[in-house]
Amino acid sequence: METSRIALPIGTTLDRFIKNNQDQFQYTSGELSQLLRDIALASKVVNREINKAGLIDIMGSAGSQNTGGEQQQKLDVLANIRFTRALTKGGEACALISEETESYVDLNNNGKYVIAIDPLDGSSNIDVNVSIGTIFSIYRRKSQIGLPITDQDILQRGEEQVAAGYILYGSSTMLVYTTGHGVNGFTYEPSLGEYFLSHPDMIIPAEGKTYSINEGLANSFSEDVKNYLQHCKDSHYTARYIGSLVADFHRNLLKGGIYIYPATAKDAHGKLRLMYECNALAFIAEQAGGKGTDGKERILSIKPKSLHQRTPFYVGSSKMVEQAMK
Ligand code: AHG
Ligand code: MN
Ligand code: MN
Repeated sequence: METSRIALPIGTTLDRFIKNNQDQFQYTSGELSQLLRDIALASKVVNREINKAGLIDIMGSAGSQNTGGEQQQKLDVLANIRFTRALTKGGEACALISEETESYVDLNNNGKYVIAIDPLDGSSNIDVNVSIGTIFSIYRRKSQIGLPITDQDILQRGEEQVAAGYILYGSSTMLVYTTGHGVNGFTYEPSLGEYFLSHPDMIIPAEGKTYSINEGLANSFSEDVKNYLQHCKDSHYTARYIGSLVADFHRNLLKGGIYIYPATAKDAHGKLRLMYECNALAFIAEQAGGKGTDGKERILSIKPKSLHQRTPFYVGSSKMVEQAMK
């Protein structure tokens, strides 16, 4: 991280923070900053929809299925529309990869950035008023600007992300992001409609006491994973599993802990999606001093073969992820 920069104080608005840090980017023409602002704006709209979910008829299933064969929720569809619109308008993005669309959405050939997004993460928790999230990754396109995009623009390794983040719609709404210069968290003040810096330079404790895994699936875990779970119990760790990846990840980022979604007998690659769930969170974890792996390999080194590829996921405090690898 650069040392000459004046650290902005807690309470700085997101806009000012983005502007102040714009020269950290390799390409300083402002497009990436604009994308971050667009994402923040869309998140405010989604936040508003989520907050009135119980009041109007937008809860429950949309009656359709997404690419993974899962039921789409109305808010899934709505969030996808909001983020797509916000990211399309400015023309900075050439393609959008979303959990909710089968193939990528081709945007502006002159756009320099590719975005991967899980518009609404944890959708099974919508109807029961439990925290949900949005996850995003931003890549620089590889092919020549002005030409149609190619597979090399779309299927980039996580280590090529230029920015990534998430929004947690929780007891308060937060936006946490990195551009590869540390991790910063902003809390939303709804009456002012602004995000304010509340968690500067976030660092994940090297060790924690929390493990987060859907232990109901334990019969279908490998012996190695079962052994690690035994280790967690022998170490008197606490189990915490919300079932919203963003919320589970965020708690562990603040308090220290490990999140695991391993391979199961049913899904040899686990459940979570590399391109719009794991890559962003692995990038943030590493930037905060933590680790993210698939059980063998660093998540950010995996070369994606397809948009909706799944991967086992171990992420969180560095020592805990290392221990789990053993
Ligand atoms: P999504 O709502 O985007 O499909 O993601 C759900 C994911 C993730 O948020 C969560 O950690 C995991 O599914 C929970 O899966 P299980 O119910 O199998 O534990
Ligand atoms: Mn998700
Ligand atoms: Mn989702």
